[in-house]
Amino acid sequence: MSQDHVLREVAESTVDAVVSRLSLAEKIHLVDGRSGFPVGEDGRMLHEVVGHPVESLPQPGAVGADGYVPALPGHGIPALHLCGAGVGLTDMYNQRPGDGGATVFPSALGVTASWDPELTRAFGRAVAAEARAVGINVMLAGACNLAAEPWCGRLFEYHGEDPLLSGTMVAGEIRGTQEAGVLASLKHYAANFCETGRFFIDTVVDERLLRHTELRVFETALELCDPAAVMAAYNKVNGSYACEQAELLDRILKQEWGFDGWVMSDWGAMRSTVPAALAGLDQEFPLGQYYSDDLAAAVAAGEVPEARLDDMCRRILRWALRLPSEDRVPTDVAAALATAELLARRSITLLSNDGILPLPDERAGSLLLVGLHADRAVISGGGSATVRPRFGDPVNDPDVPVNPFRTVTWVPSSPLDALREALPSWRVEHRDPDADDLEDRAAAADVVVVMAYQHSCEGSDHASLSLPDDQDDLVTRLAAVQPRLVVVLQTGGPVLLPWRDRVAAILELWYPGHRGGEALAAVLTGAENPSGKLPVTFPASADQPQHPGPPTVPVRPGRERPAQVPPHGDHSWVDQPFEMTYDQPLGHQWYDARDLQPAYCFGHGLSYTTFGVTGLELRQSDRGLTVTVTVTNTGSVPGREVVQAYATLPPSAGEPPRRLVAWAGIDLLPGESRRTSMSVPWQDIAVWDVAAQRWHVEPGPHTIAAGSSSRELPVSAVVDLPHRPVASLAERRRARSHRPDPTTTDPDDE
Ligand code: BGC
Repeated sequence: MSQDHVLREVAESTVDAVVSRLSLAEKIHLVDGRSGFPVGEDGRMLHEVVGHPVESLPQPGAVGADGYVPALPGHGIPALHLCGAGVGLTDMYNQRPGDGGATVFPSALGVTASWDPELTRAFGRAVAAEARAVGINVMLAGACNLAAEPWCGRLFEYHGEDPLLSGTMVAGEIRGTQEAGVLASLKHYAANFCETGRFFIDTVVDERLLRHTELRVFETALELCDPAAVMAAYNKVNGSYACEQAELLDRILKQEWGFDGWVMSDWGAMRSTVPAALAGLDQEFPLGQYYSDDLAAAVAAGEVPEARLDDMCRRILRWALRLPSEDRVPTDVAAALATAELLARRSITLLSNDGILPLPDERAGSLLLVGLHADRAVISGGGSATVRPRFGDPVNDPDVPVNPFRTVTWVPSSPLDALREALPSWRVEHRDPDADDLEDRAAAADVVVVMAYQHSCEGSDHASLSLPDDQDDLVTRLAAVQPRLVVVLQTGGPVLLPWRDRVAAILELWYPGHRGGEALAAVLTGAENPSGKLPVTFPASADQPQHPGPPTVPVRPGRERPAQVPPHGDHSWVDQPFEMTYDQPLGHQWYDARDLQPAYCFGHGLSYTTFGVTGLELRQSDRGLTVTVTVTNTGSVPGREVVQAYATLPPSAGEPPRRLVAWAGIDLLPGESRRTSMSVPWQDIAVWDVAAQRWHVEPGPHTIAAGSSSRELPVSAVVDLPHRPVASLAERRRARSHRPDPTTTDPDDE
């Protein structure tokens, strides 16, 4: 990578000087972000689909991205071209015809299952490289809302249900993106927990819970990386819209956390001019409704001080001026596919295995692969994360325009071909789920692999956690005739697996991307020993999650809720705002607090070998605790264990039974043991004091336990800690205190 791909250093005095030379109109130009879809036939089509008026189409110069701010060349200000990156460089409406499509990587949730922030970093770098190849310089990523609801339609874009894991993994993605010379926007701030009625929902969250969960994700991310931007969410949080809430945008994000970048609105999320401007919202997208003439008028009338407009511009320019020159280097497709395969291999999570896996070639027999399109493709997610796959979608008709909110994207990667190549001595055949001879063929085969799927899309939630399209029935029928049945899941998030005790093995593939078939074949045959660990709990039954399903949206009398996902902006069928309340622990902490036994707990994931975790020791330093354990490969093949440490706080803290505080991924040969240390900075075991508005370590006994999942923690130790105030993130930043990466070894132990 050339040096030019790295963001430049820009002195604050340079930023000030540029701002001082801008006219009012130029300042408004910077904060009034528009759609980036290009003008023309395709542009007209997509705007009719989306529902945006054609007049709102961008000026010439847009490269075909979700957002666009034209350059101000007289001031040396580059254009901003902003595009999504949930599973790769997005292209929602085929708006860049002729660019050949982009690489589809595994979903963010999938990569999070690696628990390796170096892999989200590799993802960020790879997507940013593809962005630069087509002139896009801001990624609308990473998306890091906490997976508070297992049925949320966007979980595949997020980074799981644990604040520390999620914040750490999304920080890796942002670091990778910005290292490659592309700015990143952390989103959707905050508490965008569900899609149903997202323009009207008020997420009502107990303050301390909010601090310990969703805000902790953002705070952790901002501790570990420096995103250029943060995107404010559609929803309300505790009574007011995220885009006009001074508490969230100004007091917490900018002051308490010291965020120096800019806050952009989600697309069409703004509701006001003056309240939003005064609350800390710095840039509107994409229709110029509030930050165009109205903002200019509000500044002229003194309702918004010009100093505040200058602050918006300064925040944008502090980062925009750092962009490297726009040299379009073509994507190294082979390298991108290699990254996609690495990420897919490391994301695959083995949920159960009675010993049937791996299937080595020497065992030679017959394998029946069952699955919709499993001879050609793997599934991916929709909405604004839609990627037009390079090499074409092998399932959809190329002549039918893509509607990202309706079309199911299939990615060219053939599990059938990959299995045939990986198992040359086997006879491998494919059947669609509705084949007439399915049960006969399944009974006759030595092994059956069935690929199940669940499509997910922004704008809608899953009405049920069951697999769609009668796939539970399919698996049950196959299990009745074939005990050697391996179920492979391609899902956005957790699903119910009512037949899990009747099948030989279950593998979660997430949305695996362009090399999904190849990665699956590598894991099935044992060329890759699975090492993924669940970033979300898989419930045992529909009634285990805190909220049984999406909220009921009050529908305007005489109107009906559209059967399909409504176009952006059209929520005329919603009658009034409504609330969704959160006052109980979220994610795995809900299961622990209620003593519920899920199907597969947070942090669970098997390997083809086994591991032991022994000898836990705790040490204290000024910065926090160091947890040291011995991890041993007790099986017969090399493998990777992700050892996890959880803290139980003193009873007076009033916290759920366990909190993830650190982890480490370790590659071990059979019989090999390694002493491994994990750092736990004080802030990760702190509690939020609502009255004092600060974090502190609660005095009393803290138990730290370690093991291979949140429910298998064979070793522990107790340390009695005194009360200790924890500096705010802004204070920590000012003190330049270095926060150790929770996944790396404490340097004191080297
Ligand atoms: C989504 C954002 C996305 C934006 C632009 C919105 O609908 O919520 O995540 O970045 O569209 O595509």
